Amino acid sequence: MNGRILIVDDEKDMLILLDRIISEDTHYETVTESNPEKAFEIFKNEAFDLVMTDLKMPGMSGIALMEKIRGVRPEVSVIILTAYATIETAVEATKKGANDYLTKPFRRERLLVTLDKAMKWQKVIRENKRLRLALEKENDLSIIGSTAAMENVFDRIRQAAPTNGTILITGPTGTGKELVARAVHRNSNRRSKKLVTINCTAILENMIESELFGHVKGAFTGAATDKKGLVEEADGGTLFLDEIGDLKPGLQTSILRLLQEGEYRPVGSVITKKADLRFIAATNKNLEQAIAENTFREDLFYRLNVIRLEIPPLKDRAEDIPILCYHFLHKYSVLNKKKIKGISPSAIQALAARKFPGNVRELENIIERGIIFCNGDTLTLSDLGLGPGESAVPGFVPGLNRENSRINFKDAKEESISFFHEHYIRTLLKESRGNISKAAQIAGIQRQYLHRLMKESHIQADEFRGDKHTP
Ligand SMILES: Nc1ncnc2c1ncn2[C@@H]1O[C@H](COP(=O)(O)OP(=O)(O)OP(=O)(O)O)[C@@H](O)[C@H]1O
Ligand SMILES: [Mg+2]
Repeated sequence: MNGRILIVDDEKDMLILLDRIISEDTHYETVTESNPEKAFEIFKNEAFDLVMTDLKMPGMSGIALMEKIRGVRPEVSVIILTAYATIETAVEATKKGANDYLTKPFRRERLLVTLDKAMKWQKVIRENKRLRLALEKENDLSIIGSTAAMENVFDRIRQAAPTNGTILITGPTGTGKELVARAVHRNSNRRSKKLVTINCTAILENMIESELFGHVKGAFTGAATDKKGLVEEADGGTLFLDEIGDLKPGLQTSILRLLQEGEYRPVGSVITKKADLRFIAATNKNLEQAIAENTFREDLFYRLNVIRLEIPPLKDRAEDIPILCYHFLHKYSVLNKKKIKGISPSAIQALAARKFPGNVRELENIIERGIIFCNGDTLTLSDLGLGPGESAVPGFVPGLNRENSRINFKDAKEESISFFHEHYIRTLLKESRGNISKAAQIAGIQRQYLHRLMKESHIQADEFRGDKHTP
C-alpha cells in the first residue's frame, strides 16, 4: 500500500463509485464514511495521507470538516468534491486550504490525475518533514549517524544530559567520544557555564595538583601569585576528564577524592574549597581489563561508571559511512572554498567496504585530503588516494568484504554485478570520452543495451565529455 485515503460523502452511491475506481486503478487503501462527524472520529484515530470530502453534507459541510482536519493534522491533503461547480465555492475551498477540488460528475482520468497530484504533494511534505527532523537532530547534538546503534546513543545522551549523573564514555579511538561529551554539556542545564577539558595523558604528574586545584602565592618556587585551577574554572559547569584510562595511579587518588567529596584544596592553601561540577570521563582503554591488571583503581571506576555511553566502532555501523561522507564533504568544501557537490558512487562503495581502524576520524581525514586534491565538482575514487587493494576493484566483492553484514549468495552476486557494471561502464566511457557509440563498439555490445546499463547505474555520458575529472 502506498497511502491511505479517507472518502466522505453523504451519497452512498458516490462512495461506492469512488472506492471502486481507486481500488481498481491505484494501490491506495480507502476507507469510506457517509457521516462527516463519524469520519472525523475515524480520522483522529487512524493514519491517512489524503481526505476526499463532499462539500454539501447534512450536519457538517466539507469545508468545516477540512478545518477540523487541519486543526489536528495540517499536513494531510484534502480534496473537496462538489456538485456545485461555481467558481466561488472552488475558490473558497482552496482559499480555506484545500489542495484541490473535483466537480461531480467527474471523469475517471480527472479523478486519477487529481489524486496523483495530491499524493505526490503528500510525499514532498513528508520528505521535507523527515529532512527537517534529521537536520534538527543534527543541530541538537551535532553528531551524525542514522543507524540504530547511533540512535540508541543519541537517546541515551538526551536522557542523561539534563541530569547530574557522572558519565563514562567508552569506545575505540576516533569514534566521537569528545563530540559526545560536548553534546552532553550543551544539552544540560549547565550549558551557560564552561566545559573544561582535562587531558589526563598530557598533564604532568607533579603538576596535576596545581593545574587542577590551583595554588596560592609562594606554594612552590615560581608560584609568584595565586592561580586558579581548572576545577575552579569549571565551577557550575562540566569537568571533562579525557583519556581517563591514561591517568597515573597517584593522580587517580586525587580525582577520586574530588569525585567523592566535591572538595579540593589549592596547593599550599589551608582552606578547602567546594566545586559544583558535573563529571564526564572518556577513554579508549578497556578499564575493566586495567582493573584486572591493577593499573586502574576499581573504586574510581565505579564512581565514574554511573551512566555508561559506549560508542560503537565505525565498522559495526558501516551504513553510517555514506551520511558521514556527505557531512564531511560539505564541511571541507566550505572550509577549502571549493564547490564540490557530490561524491561518486564508486568512491562511496569503496569507503563503505573499508575497515577504518581509525574510525570516523580516519574517514574524516580521507575526505579532507580528497577535497584538497579534487579538481572537478564530484569527489571521485581517485581523489581519495586510497592504497592499492583499497580501490575496491579488483578484488572487491561487495557483500563479502563487509565483515559485519555478510549477505546471501544471490544478493552478493547481484551486488557484484551492478558494481561491475558501474565500474566497467565508467572505465569505458572515460576511454571513449563520453562517446556512447564508440564505447558500445569497444565493449562489443549494442548501443541500446549500453544505454540501459548506464541508466541503471545512474551514469551520464556528459560526465565524461570535456576535461571533467572522473575515476
Ligand atoms: N558521528 C560523528 N559525526 C560527525 N563527526 C564525527 C562523528 N564521530 C566523530 N566525528 C569526528 O571525528 C573526529 C574524532 O572525534 P573525537 O575526537 O570525538 O573522537 P574520540 O572518540 O574522542 O577519539 P580518541 O579516542 O582518539 O580521543 C572529530 O573531528 C569529530 O568531529
Ligand atoms: Mg578523544
